[in-house]
Amino acid sequence: MEKKSYPSFSSRLGFIMVTAGAAVGLGNIWSFTYVVGSNGGGGFVLIYLLVLLFLATPIFMAELLLGRMGKASPPEALSKLQKQAGSKIPWAVPAWMGLISTIFILSFYAVIAGKVMGYGFEALFGGFGGWNGEQIADLNTSYNGNELLSAFWAGLFLALSVWIVGTGVRSGLERASKIMMPALFAMLLGLAIFAAIEGDFARGFDFLFGFRNVEFSAAIFLEALGLAFFTLSIGVGGIMVYGSYMGDDVSLPSATVWIVIMDLLVAILAGLAIFPLLFGAGLDAGVGPNLVFAAVPQAFAALPGGSVLAFIFFLLLTVAALTSAISLFTPTVQRLVENGWSRRKAAWSMFVPAFGLSILTTLSFGSWNDFYPLAFLGLDGLTFFDLIYKGTNNIVLPLGGLAFALIIGWGLQRDKVRAALSMKSDALFTIWYGLLKYIIPLAIIFLFVKTIWP
Ligand code: PFF
Repeated sequence: MEKKSYPSFSSRLGFIMVTAGAAVGLGNIWSFTYVVGSNGGGGFVLIYLLVLLFLATPIFMAELLLGRMGKASPPEALSKLQKQAGSKIPWAVPAWMGLISTIFILSFYAVIAGKVMGYGFEALFGGFGGWNGEQIADLNTSYNGNELLSAFWAGLFLALSVWIVGTGVRSGLERASKIMMPALFAMLLGLAIFAAIEGDFARGFDFLFGFRNVEFSAAIFLEALGLAFFTLSIGVGGIMVYGSYMGDDVSLPSATVWIVIMDLLVAILAGLAIFPLLFGAGLDAGVGPNLVFAAVPQAFAALPGGSVLAFIFFLLLTVAALTSAISLFTPTVQRLVENGWSRRKAAWSMFVPAFGLSILTTLSFGSWNDFYPLAFLGLDGLTFFDLIYKGTNNIVLPLGGLAFALIIGWGLQRDKVRAALSMKSDALFTIWYGLLKYIIPLAIIFLFVKTIWP
């Protein structure tokens, strides 16, 4: 009975595309280039690839599996599994922590997505085509300085997401994203080709992949881990919800591999497009969260039909951001629906705190850009945005991932996990299970301890 009424994706391709659509978002394009740029490039990318392979991918699979086994919102799913396993530890705690953090993530996500929409609007009215570097820089400065405008677009983005989550349009959008995601990919490829011809490709490539003296510190590893978790949506229950919709005929390991590959490709392609453009324009990689907005318009300025292309690009990026934002709303909405709320009421109830908190990020890019609220605790130089961004990415997501690894490795019976995963190869299962049980928890705990007491 219950199984019938629970939504599920029947086709394997449908599941993979929709989940990849939820994972691919601003993280792959905006965060990836901004965080890689701020951490010196090449060496950091190598660390990113290492943590993606050994830590993030196994946890992605673990989170999907917990969703498939629990078939409910993350807190309910984990409580159910806890009862079945007869454990006294409240497994739902990390899920609740995840739900709270989705509101904080949405708060900055909306500001960046809003800016993407604002830039799209600018392009719609003929912006970017034929512009010079100064005009591009001025737009960035004036946008960030106009806090009302920035708050307006952030609010609009959140309202649009809420509307989609609260009504049935969602499946339509997800269907659309099956076309728009490949389109975004093609657009990034085109940008990368343009950047290779017109930008400073050699320097951009070397920046991304060239090996230079990197500091292999725990803090840098934690930063790369946070970025990998963020781009894959791991640690807050977003992926768990998608796992709960997953049809039993879909192979979980192969879905994981496909989604991780697509997610990584988008990030690498974004890097290959954006860094050559940035260096070609004589800009610096360490500019921070404005990096995409400084680099990408350089290409549209130089291309014939630049305004139209810019409009398409920002539109595609908006859709990618929307499908990711939906996956940030869903775990909490699902939990509230279990309490008898309507989807619409549940979604709007998240709008209020997310929008309220988004003002802090808006101000961090505007008049509070040198206000460091926790400077008295030694966290000098970090704005509200930096604190929310780093707090969620580098602390909450890794802790969520750690909890999921511990639940699979220590909480559940190995045989049950083995059966639910339906992985063909015994050897691969043993490696994955061993990683979750020993290596990943030790690695994450080690990184935290070493970051706090270097
Ligand atoms: N993975 C998304 C991106 O790369 O933009 C961000 C995200 C979505 C993080 C959903 C966490 C989440 F639950």
